[in-house]
Amino acid sequence: MSEGQDQYGQRIVVVDDERNIRRTLSMVLEGEGYVVETFESAEAFEPRLSKGGIDAILLDVRLPGIDGLTMLAKIKEEHAAIPVIMISGHASIEDAMSARDIGAANFLEKPLSRERVLVTVADAIEKRAQTATIRAFEALEGTDEEMLGVSPAIEKVREQIKKVAGTGVRVLVTGESGTGKELIARAVHRASKRAKGPFVKVNCAAIPSELIESELFGHERGAFSGAVQKKRGRFELADGGTLFLDEIGDMSMDAQAKVLRALQTGEVIRVGGEKAFVVDVRVVAATNKDLEEEVKAGNFREDLYFRLSVVPIISPPLRDRGDDVVIIMKSYLEQFSGEHAVQPPVTLTPEAEQAVRGYAFPGNVRELRNLAERLVILADNPVKLSDLPPQIAGQEGSARPPVLGGDDGEQTPGIIDLEAYGNPTLRELREAVERDYILRKLEETGWNVTRTAEVLGIERTNLHKKLKQLGLKKKG
Ligand SMILES: Nc1ncnc2c1ncn2[C@@H]1O[C@H](COP(=O)(O)OP(=O)(O)OP(=O)(O)O)[C@@H](O)[C@H]1O
Ligand SMILES: [Mg+2]
Repeated sequence: MSEGQDQYGQRIVVVDDERNIRRTLSMVLEGEGYVVETFESAEAFEPRLSKGGIDAILLDVRLPGIDGLTMLAKIKEEHAAIPVIMISGHASIEDAMSARDIGAANFLEKPLSRERVLVTVADAIEKRAQTATIRAFEALEGTDEEMLGVSPAIEKVREQIKKVAGTGVRVLVTGESGTGKELIARAVHRASKRAKGPFVKVNCAAIPSELIESELFGHERGAFSGAVQKKRGRFELADGGTLFLDEIGDMSMDAQAKVLRALQTGEVIRVGGEKAFVVDVRVVAATNKDLEEEVKAGNFREDLYFRLSVVPIISPPLRDRGDDVVIIMKSYLEQFSGEHAVQPPVTLTPEAEQAVRGYAFPGNVRELRNLAERLVILADNPVKLSDLPPQIAGQEGSARPPVLGGDDGEQTPGIIDLEAYGNPTLRELREAVERDYILRKLEETGWNVTRTAEVLGIERTNLHKKLKQLGLKKKG
């Protein structure tokens, strides 16, 4: 935090009716390089809001005229990304709660402490930057990712998607974590007649159960404390498109009942509302739980299960997709090389490729994807067996041990005297062998690092890194 220069020019708005507070905050913030604009009421500030360029707002809860919470709701409605920090003299818990519900970034209590103000403002601005990155990333993930692979298992999924997409029936996607359930859900949407409509995702596991009803169905203004503004629910937002209910197995019984009613009637009622809205929504649900088991255990409604699971699609684990592992790996290496401007694009040595092919990837495609990105950033190019994490490199029988002493295609026992190493773990053995071999080559070249790197086939900078890692130094 407090990285000095970073806040130079960041623009902070202060809305408070107390002249003293405005003056103090200006002084404190300007002292740190922020640009500060002050207003004495919400009404005075309102016209400024639409002009943009605001990095954070400090907003008093009690204001004459339009009060702070109402103004907060207004700000959040049109400029959701601007962090708003509420200031209050006698903050009641309720005010704080509703401010949080409406989307306040934080709360400051009078009397204000300089340190608290600065920390809170810097923190809010930093969080906003993070959210923006995540959003951009999600948007990218959502649109760009193709389902890769040619294995019979994934071909079967493609066929199912094609068959089901045109019909508009409900689909339940099940499968282990990281296998691509969301990708399948998006593919169903894209292949359907609703492709031009919205694809709206709800992560049922991420939303607290008290909020899920309002999230799914929306609420009317004043439906509960904090419902300052009426809000449309995800069902309404998905009208004409697809509603993706992710992690449906984690939904509370209460919410299940309400979703069931919506599916039965095709109508939704906002929390606190009377009128029922007809919505035209196709529901695709996903879970990594065994819903049949959950039904048996009494955690999931059987009637909802049958409604959702008109057509089940099973997303196969990566280990059942044969060579797709390599196809997907190569594609991700290429993609991440592009993103991280690594030239030429990162590839795998045959040994590394074989190890990857032989690994079970319990975290499925997500694990593979993360690995690819890590390799692009951290490993040598081409990626060698020793660049892979030990659980992959060390796979039983998945790859030949590194051949020292020539490429005659034969294992040449005797070149390494394994007895000399005792009973190490594979990793310890690898490091020990690496160390000995590097040392030998260094001696041979008279500790000429450039020459040694050439002989070893790695970059000089990498050799330097390795020497440091292994604690190797020229003696004498
Ligand atoms: N066949 C595939 N080809 C390329 N990338 C894929 C494939 N399947 C999945 N992915 C990628 O793997 C990652 C995980 O996929 P996704 O989020 O759809 O999994 P999930 O089954 O929903 O996982 P979870 O149960 O953890 O939510 C995503 O980045 C996705 O783009
Ligand atoms: Mg998912």
